[in-house]
Formats: sequence, C-alpha cells, structure tokens
Amino acid sequence: MTPTPRPRRLRFFAAVALASLVCLCTAGCGAADLADIDPAAIPEQPTYDGDVRPMMAYYCVGCHAPKTQLGPNLSGYDYSSYSGVIAGFSGIEETVFVAGNMPPGGARKLTLYEQAVLARWQENGFQQ
Ligand code: HEC
Repeated sequence: MTPTPRPRRLRFFAAVALASLVCLCTAGCGAADLADIDPAAIPEQPTYDGDVRPMMAYYCVGCHAPKTQLGPNLSGYDYSSYSGVIAGFSGIEETVFVAGNMPPGGARKLTLYEQAVLARWQENGFQQ
C-alpha cells in the first residue's frame, strides 16, 4: 500500500489552524488594556468616597489595613483610608496596572473598567 499524502496535509492544516488561533488570541484576548476602555464610559470626576473606597474595600483592605488577619499594614500599605490610598498609589500602579498580581492568587482582580476609574482619579488629582 502506497502512503497517501493526506495525513501530512491534514497535519499542515491543523498547524495552520492552531497558529491562526494563537494569533487571534494574542491579538484579541491578550491585547486588552486600559486603552480599550471607552473614556466616555468612565465617570468624569471619580471620587474617593463614591468610586475608590468601595473598590479598595472589596479588593485590598482585607489584607492592607492597620488591622488585618495577616498583620498590620501588610508590606507597609494601608488601603483603608483616603491618605493611605494616595500614599500607596504607586503600589497600585505596580501591582494592579502593571504586574496584575494583587489581590494575590486566584482572587478576582480589578476589571479594566475599575482600573480606568482609578487611573482617572489619579489624573484628576485624587478628588475626595
Ligand atoms: C489576600 C490578601 C491580600 C489582598 C486582598 C491584597 N494583597 Fe497586596 N499583598 C499581600 C501580601 C501577602 C503581600 C506581601 C507579599 C508579596 O509581596 O507577595 C502583598 C504585597 C503588596 C504590595 C507590595 C508589593 C511589593 O512588591 O512590595 C502592594 C503594593 C500591594 N500588596 C497592593 C495591593 C493592592 C492594591 C490590593 C488590592 C487591589 C492588594 N494588595 C490586595 C496580600 C494581599
């Protein structure tokens, strides 16, 4: 029995299909960033009380506050107060905007929308 070229061609098509899937994913899934958020969808003047405090309470304060189960002001950050969030904003930039490693582990991360709100809050000078 002579070998038919079919299996090889199939493998080729499978490789092409896989490659285009990977391309689609890096373009479509991986490239999502703050720039993809419609600026008009973000509050014009986010405030600490209205926008930021609830976010910090949900995502960060459980571990980074003067009194937490993991210890006081974990790593020196206190996200439970207005002045604490401003003082620790560089930590938010590092861990949330760039590294995406806070909150740690499999915990739900801030959405891009929430990150965009935080970024605009900073741009506008941390309105209380
Ligand atoms: C479940 C607990 C937990 C939560 C929730 C959490 N963190 Fe952390 N965080 C840690 C631990 C533990 C460390 C220290 C160990 C480490 O650096 O991984 C840390 C360290 C940090 C650091 C210092 C990182 C460094 O490189 O020194 C920053 C900044 C930070 N967290 C910001 C945040 C922000 C912002 C949030 C909310 C979006 C948050 N964390 C939520 C546990 C937590």
